[in-house]
Amino acid sequence: MHSEKHREHLAKGLTYRDLLSDTLSRDLFEKLPRSFDIVGDIAIIRIDEKELLRYGVEISSAIMKIHKRVRAVYARGPARGSLRIQQLEHLGGERRTETVYKENGLRFSVDIAKMYVNPRLGSERLRIAMDIKDGEFVLDMFSSYGAFAINIARIKRCLVVASDINSDAVTHMRRSIYMNKLLGEVMPLVSDANTMPLRGVFTTVIADNPTNILESVEAITNALVKGGRAYIYALTDEPEAMGREIERSSGSRLAIKSYYKVKEYSPRLNIYRYLAIRV
Ligand SMILES: C[S@@+](CC[C@H](N)C(=O)[O-])C[C@H]1O[C@@H](n2cnc3c(N)ncnc32)[C@H](O)[C@@H]1O
Repeated sequence: MHSEKHREHLAKGLTYRDLLSDTLSRDLFEKLPRSFDIVGDIAIIRIDEKELLRYGVEISSAIMKIHKRVRAVYARGPARGSLRIQQLEHLGGERRTETVYKENGLRFSVDIAKMYVNPRLGSERLRIAMDIKDGEFVLDMFSSYGAFAINIARIKRCLVVASDINSDAVTHMRRSIYMNKLLGEVMPLVSDANTMPLRGVFTTVIADNPTNILESVEAITNALVKGGRAYIYALTDEPEAMGREIERSSGSRLAIKSYYKVKEYSPRLNIYRYLAIRV
């Protein structure tokens, strides 16, 4: 149900920025991000300008005025460390970091303060799920809260082992498995990908840890059956050279068949997905 005021804002096509134009100096206003993520009922906005954080209350209430389902607003810094968790600062609304968000008809339980969460990869995850065949044995090696694994099991009758070193992420994955109707099975596992005990068994491996992928190429290769394939995500400014580096790190047991730019990461660096075959 929308209030009269909310209907008025939407009808005028107003954004949260419009509500701040009289509050901020022209200079600061120009630095306000034009977009932000909404994960379930939590808005997460990237604010690089320290000065803007002083207006956290005003920014959060402008966001909540325009987006009525938002209950909490956080500013985020870059994802850090091997768990890729983003630094958060509460701007307004409820002090809560757990939520449930929807993607491709699925519901995911997440805690944005405890695990890597990216609501923008829904179409990439669906694209990979469509490639998987019924009956496959899949490893989602850096699964976080299980987004690839659960997207795959939604539409394919296969078995997906979904592992991550972050036990909080795996706890939320378990919840999400029960919250959704799946055709296939997902087996959650807290495990270090680089010491994965299952070898030579998986028909497909998904390796989505782009900032540190080269240290795991041997483990990816070992996990695959001969003829199996891996989708390997890597951050680089030289995609051709990175492809050769992946092949070299596998001891020439992986052959790169193609690569594709998935998203821009910074002005220089992009994230690429490599399709590799275990020869
Ligand atoms: C980019 S995030 C993965 C995102 C996830 N695939 C998705 O679709 O949202 C990388 C993940 O790798 C996990 N990770 C980092 N090093 C690891 C390791 N050695 N073994 C297992 N997981 C690891 C982190 O905890 C993090 O959840």
